Amino acid sequence: MLDRLLRSWGGERLVVRRDEPTGAWILIAIHSSVLGPAAGGTRMKPYPHLDAALEDVLRLSQGMTYKFAAPGLPFGGAKAVLVVPTELEPEDRPGLLSRYGQMIADLDGAFLTGPDVGTSPHDMDVIAETAGARVFCRTPEAGGAGDPGPYTALGVFVAIEAACAELGIAVAGSRVVVQGAGDVGGPLIERLREAGAAVVFSELDASLIDRYRDRGGVAFIAPEEALAEDCDVLAPCALGGVLNETTIPRLRCRAVVGSANNQLAMPADGERLRERGILYAPDFVANVGGAMAMPGIEALGWTPQHATATVREYVGRTLREIFVMSAAEGITTDAAARRIAEAHLAEQA
Ligand code: PHE
Repeated sequence: MLDRLLRSWGGERLVVRRDEPTGAWILIAIHSSVLGPAAGGTRMKPYPHLDAALEDVLRLSQGMTYKFAAPGLPFGGAKAVLVVPTELEPEDRPGLLSRYGQMIADLDGAFLTGPDVGTSPHDMDVIAETAGARVFCRTPEAGGAGDPGPYTALGVFVAIEAACAELGIAVAGSRVVVQGAGDVGGPLIERLREAGAAVVFSELDASLIDRYRDRGGVAFIAPEEALAEDCDVLAPCALGGVLNETTIPRLRCRAVVGSANNQLAMPADGERLRERGILYAPDFVANVGGAMAMPGIEALGWTPQHATATVREYVGRTLREIFVMSAAEGITTDAAARRIAEAHLAEQA
């Protein structure tokens, strides 16, 4: 398992630590520092077993390398996974986060982080107390730029516009299924509704279901039905691996454009989508908004206005380029996107 995983990963450094007081495992995967210090979010959740967590952190770190490389941002790719016990007590959380922050401090600038599934800007404040200025997206009260979700949602929205244009339809009047109404899915639902799309969403959290279900133009659907729902665009905004051998034959959408990382369970799933004639917006292009805007604002001196304009311009232009390249060369959109990222990596190597 470990041999196969680490060799196919192709990354630089994997740090593993067991957090004795909580029984959590902390995994930090630094995939590439070719373009700059390696950055990536901190994911915090229980996993069925450590193999699954390891596989996730390795793949996610690789995704971050591509995410930053495609637009030519000066960051490498990394990711951290905090594998927490299901019964982690709220009062044990700050201790775990500050010990994790100390690990980041020990890495001395080789790893920069931000929020991801299961962590928030408030958690970033706690991590930053020990990690120092290596943490993006602290709360505004703590001097950070706050929640990246709205920027990621903006990028996904622009990606949906590009996909609709490619399909020859407008966002207004289109039917979009948003899987997950969390930090990105929530603001995406709002944007789509404002743009006149008919939105159907699925979600597991009862309070989020209530927040969105009664707005005009928005309907709720049971999570197990979301993937097979008839629509123009399916937007996976929950966890990865949703596009696989089992789900792809059941899809009834014309395009897949969402914010989840690693939507394709494996590269062959990109082919499966292509064979079915479903247009796929590569995840690491469509979901770059937060990872572009926040380091832009906090490390590169961008204004929020510049960040917004840059996310819009990059996502729209790059997806159009990817759709053209994919059609002209008969390759998947995922392969086309990787080619763009790899060209930037090769220039630096
Ligand atoms: N969750 C973000 C992503 O996957 C991680 C991130 C956010 C990284 C903000 C840097 C800054 O892209």
